[in-house]
Amino acid sequence: MFVLVAVLFFGIAEFCSGRNTSFSCIEREREALLKLKLCFHDPSHMLSSWKGNDCCEWRGVGCDKNGHHVVSIQLKGSIFDQPQLYLIDNVEEVVSSLLMLKYLEHLDLSRNYFNKSLIPHSFGLMKQLRYLNLSHAHFRGRIPSELGNLTRLRVLDLADYYGGALKVDDDIQWISHLSFLQQLDMSGVNLMLASSNLFQVLGMPPLLSWLSLSGCNLKNSHLPSGEMVGGLERSSECSRYELETMDLGENNISGLMPNWLGELKRLIYLNLSSNAFVGPIPSSLGTISSLRELVFQ
Ligand SMILES: *[C@@H]1O[C@H](CO)[C@@H](O)[C@H](O)[C@H]1NC(C)=O
Ligand SMILES: *[C@@H]1O[C@H](CO)[C@@H](O)[C@H](O)[C@H]1NC(C)=O
Ligand SMILES: *[C@@H]1O[C@H](CO)[C@@H](O)[C@H](O)[C@H]1NC(C)=O
Ligand SMILES: *[C@@H]1O[C@H](CO)[C@@H](O)[C@H](O)[C@H]1NC(C)=O
Ligand SMILES: *[C@@H]1O[C@H](CO)[C@@H](O)[C@H](O)[C@H]1NC(C)=O
Ligand SMILES: *[C@@H]1O[C@H](CO)[C@@H](O)[C@H](O)[C@H]1NC(C)=O
Repeated sequence: MFVLVAVLFFGIAEFCSGRNTSFSCIEREREALLKLKLCFHDPSHMLSSWKGNDCCEWRGVGCDKNGHHVVSIQLKGSIFDQPQLYLIDNVEEVVSSLLMLKYLEHLDLSRNYFNKSLIPHSFGLMKQLRYLNLSHAHFRGRIPSELGNLTRLRVLDLADYYGGALKVDDDIQWISHLSFLQQLDMSGVNLMLASSNLFQVLGMPPLLSWLSLSGCNLKNSHLPSGEMVGGLERSSECSRYELETMDLGENNISGLMPNWLGELKRLIYLNLSSNAFVGPIPSSLGTISSLRELVFQ
C-alpha cells in the first residue's frame, strides 16, 4: 500500500512539475532539428547524437530550463579549416527548419560548408535571434538587407575568411535598424560598393562596441570627414560612437590618418594595419585615455 502511494505521489509530482528528464524536448522542435540534420552531409559525425527523443541532449542543441524549447544551436565547423557539415540540400530548407524553432536565440553555423549559397532573405524572419554567426561558412553574394529585421541581435558575425565572396552592394542602411547590436564582424566582406555613408550607418546602433571591417576594400570615401562625425553627434543624441575595439586593417585607405579617430573616446584597441596612411599620428588619438593597443603595421 505504501509503495503504491509513493509511486502515485512521485508520478503525480513528476507530472505536475512538467519535467520528464527522459523526454524533455518538444516534439515539433525535435522534428525541425531532424529536418535540419537531413540538409547536411556530415562526414565527421558531428550530428551522430541527433537521434532519440530528447533533443535537448543532442550535441550543439541548447534548451531553456522551463519549457524545453530549443534556444540555441551551436554547430561550429572545425577550426582547422575543414568544414564539418556540408550542405546537400537547398539552403532555404535549412532556414525553413530553423524557422520552426520559435524560441531560437543563439545560432552559430560558422565554418561549415554552405556550397557558395546566397544567404537567404528568410534569415530575416528569425526575429528572436540575439546571436548570429555565419562566419567563414562558404556563403557568397549579396548580404540580404532583411537581416536588418533581426532587431534583437547583439552579435552579428558575417566575417568571410575566403575574402570577398560576400558583399554589400549599395544599401547598408539596414545595419542602422539593429539597435541592440554590440558586436559586428564583417571582415573580408567586400564593401567596395557600399554607400559612402557607411560610418554614419555604423554610428546608429547605440551600443556597438566592437567592430571589425578588416579586408573589406574600404576606400577613403567610406570614411567620415571630421565635420561629419561632429555633425553626427549634434544631429542625434544616441548616435555616439561607443566603440571599444575597431579593426580597419587591410583596406585601401590612404593619406593622413583622420583626426576624428580621436572622437572615439572609449577606444581600447585600434588596428589600422596594411593601409596606405602617411604623415603623423593625429594628436587627438593621444587624448583617448582608454587606448591600450594601437596597430599600424
Ligand atoms: C516520460 O517519458 C517516457 C518516454 O521517454 C514515457 O514513457 C513516460 O510515460 C513519460 N512520463 C511522464 C510523466 O510523462
Ligand atoms: C552545390 O551547388 C552547385 C551549384 O549550385 C550544385 O550543382 C551542387 O549540386 C551543389 N552541391 C551539393 C552537394 O548539393
Ligand atoms: C563566430 O565564429 C567564429 C568561428 O567559429 C569565431 O572565431 C568567432 O569568434 C565567432 N564570433 C563571435 C562574434 O562570437
Ligand atoms: C524586412 O526587411 C525588408 C528589407 O529591409 C523590408 O522591406 C521588410 O519590410 C521587412 N519585413 C518585416 C516584416 O519587418
Ligand atoms: C591587425 O589587423 C589585421 C587584420 O586587419 C590582423 O591580421 C592583425 O593580426 C592585427 N594585428 C594585431 C596586432 O592585432
Ligand atoms: C587602392 O586605391 C587606389 C586609389 O585610391 C587604386 O588605384 C588602387 O587600385 C586601389 N587598390 C585596391 C587593391 O583596391
